[in-house]
Amino acid sequence: MSNPIDQAICDAAYFLRKSAFTTAFTGAGISVESGIPPFRGEEGLWNKYDPKYLDIGFFLSEPEESWQMIKQIFFNFFGAAVPNDAHLVLARMERHGMLQRIITQNIDNLHQEAGSTNIFEFHGNSKKLICLACFREYHYGKISLKTLPPRCPDCSGLLKPNFVFFGEQIPIEPLNAAYDAASRSDVFLIIGSTGEVMPANQIPPLAKQQGATIIEINPEESLYTGRVTDIFIRGKAGEMMKRLAEVLFATPLENNKYGVN
Ligand code: APR
Ligand code: ZN
Repeated sequence: MSNPIDQAICDAAYFLRKSAFTTAFTGAGISVESGIPPFRGEEGLWNKYDPKYLDIGFFLSEPEESWQMIKQIFFNFFGAAVPNDAHLVLARMERHGMLQRIITQNIDNLHQEAGSTNIFEFHGNSKKLICLACFREYHYGKISLKTLPPRCPDCSGLLKPNFVFFGEQIPIEPLNAAYDAASRSDVFLIIGSTGEVMPANQIPPLAKQQGATIIEINPEESLYTGRVTDIFIRGKAGEMMKRLAEVLFATPLENNKYGVN
């Protein structure tokens, strides 16, 4: 008998191969092997930094202090991070017609850099800054962060990273795309999320209600594991997705508990 992880991978590959519409729902955990710390858990960013710096009310009242933290938390990390095997396998699955949507809670742009295209960013993206006065958008590389807070080159308005702060609304396009994906998915693949943050954490239960098979990859159990997950692959995203790809793209599936493929 193969070990439980091999069995879960084989079962996951069985459903992924049969699925006509598959969504990957990714959280901070998928980028940990790229060197970006998660928000929660032992190495979590919220253990080191006060989340208030990402509260929209605090940002508007103390933009300089908030920007000092934002620069430390995000812009010092993100430049160096590159996609890991998990991002790359999802891009490969998309190219082979085995993945139709990525709904990501991450703002690190690593899915794009891995070559995925059908991506909806539930919390926006850290690569762009937006002017709160004239709404012009700027690539973060074009704006100096030497003096904080950065000002709009065009109208001197306050610039804000174009990702969702606590207390802000989720942009309507990724929100609608997430509900649409949840209603259409035969398989919904949750990778690296605690399931602690609203309203993102409503999406996997919605997919489950609509009949999707929920596959979850995480080295630890999450709020999804006991409630909505059908197949739990206990492990790191990069390692597990690499092993899943070996089954998905190599040979016809071996026996699994759902019968021979
Ligand atoms: N592979 C897969 N999962 C991992 C790995 C790994 N190598 N390392 C850690 N994890 C898991 C943790 O076990 C945890 O369940 O990733 C998850 C990280 O949890 P969070 O940091 O809470 O990330 P996420 O669920 O995406 O947070 C949602 O909270 O602060 C906000 O906007 C922020 O988008 C973020 C949202
Ligand atoms: Zn402006």
